Amino acid sequence: MDLSQLFRDHLAKVTDSAARTLSETKYDALVLGAGSQMVYYADDMEPPFRSNPHFAGMAPLKGPHHAIVVKPGVKPRLIRWAPKDYWYERAPFAQDFWTSEFDLDEADSADGVMARIGPVGKAVFVGDDETRATAAGFTVNPPDVVKRLDWDRATKTAYEIECLSRASAAGASGHLAAKEAFLKGESELGIHHAFLRGAGASEDLLPYPTIVCLDEKAAILHYHAKRSTGSGRALLLDAGASHLNYGCDITRTSVAPSADAKFENLVKDLDALQLRLCAMTKAGTSYVEIHLAAHREIGLLLIQHGVLKCSIDEAISKRYTSVFFPHGIGHHLGIQVHDIGGHQKAREGGVLLPPAEHPYLRNTRVMEVGHVFTIEPGIYFVQMLLEPHRAGPTSGAFNWDLIDALAPYGGIRVEDNVVVTASGHRNLTREVLAN
Ligand code: GLY
Ligand code: MN
Ligand code: MN
Repeated sequence: MDLSQLFRDHLAKVTDSAARTLSETKYDALVLGAGSQMVYYADDMEPPFRSNPHFAGMAPLKGPHHAIVVKPGVKPRLIRWAPKDYWYERAPFAQDFWTSEFDLDEADSADGVMARIGPVGKAVFVGDDETRATAAGFTVNPPDVVKRLDWDRATKTAYEIECLSRASAAGASGHLAAKEAFLKGESELGIHHAFLRGAGASEDLLPYPTIVCLDEKAAILHYHAKRSTGSGRALLLDAGASHLNYGCDITRTSVAPSADAKFENLVKDLDALQLRLCAMTKAGTSYVEIHLAAHREIGLLLIQHGVLKCSIDEAISKRYTSVFFPHGIGHHLGIQVHDIGGHQKAREGGVLLPPAEHPYLRNTRVMEVGHVFTIEPGIYFVQMLLEPHRAGPTSGAFNWDLIDALAPYGGIRVEDNVVVTASGHRNLTREVLAN
């Protein structure tokens, strides 16, 4: 599919919403800075560069210091930072599907980019280069502007959904290759390399570092060490790929033939449970409903499998489900893997805090057509969370023999990426990765 028309429509929507924000906040122009490159202290090495997500949402141009100028009624300008430099690749600015939508300009220094912006009236700057932007006379990152931009970014255009869909296809290829490596008995590092090769990705272009967990490591929610040497009986792989700044966020839990059937059955049932939660996606309903349903469903599953020995009401009211499912059901997804704005109440302001007993829930918004988020229930055997119950008065509600038999498998997570549509939802992940 040719992206040109999709991008044209995307840019029209983004510039329209920027114009609305400018009119509501009484500014004449919006300047988006791509961002500055961080250099490690006392070093000349840099971490991989990530663009200001507001900039990245308007142009898929990599690298620091570029600027975009949006002035209502005028074609958007893009001023590219193009230093004269033979240390790094400084490719000429090639025509691409999106470049004709901008008036293009160049400068060979960050100061030069700022100077090329010229007089644009009362302008607001959004980005990290506060010193240069302030010196240029711009108002920098005012909350009344930024919250509106954040809010608008939650609703994805067809172009963005196509990018997320392409990222999902690459991510799915990575997951399939990684599963094959796991079943061959490869190490966590080997599985990571298989994912990269399958996704056609280099490490610095991943939306987030891969989480490759063999066996008990799956109980560490963000385990990055890749130390286990192989022949695992279970693999939890949380890994995504990117397409033009947009990343997918996919988790699958796989079992080897040597795995205990009790764990395998739990994996199968959590997968079915995850699809029931995806089916709850509905414009006009709060995303918190999905999170609360996840607790109830996970509680019922733990009781059915004999892990908990209590009623569902007790499992919820005494928060036993949070012992096994200690994170939120998901988060907005887009340019950032935890995309911005998940706790916003309205475009103009206000905060929707998560329920007090679920502080890690990153999205509390009412679902709208075009929102994209993850749905990622999990069941883990985290010793730190289990121990207070093992020794305490609540011990009788837990089946410790079964918990000790399952704990060497660490845990299970199933994570898909879902778009809210007028008729329900589109599951970008299952389109390319059945389970
Ligand atoms: N990959 C991080 C997360 O699922 O939120
Ligand atoms: Mn996620
Ligand atoms: Mn994830």
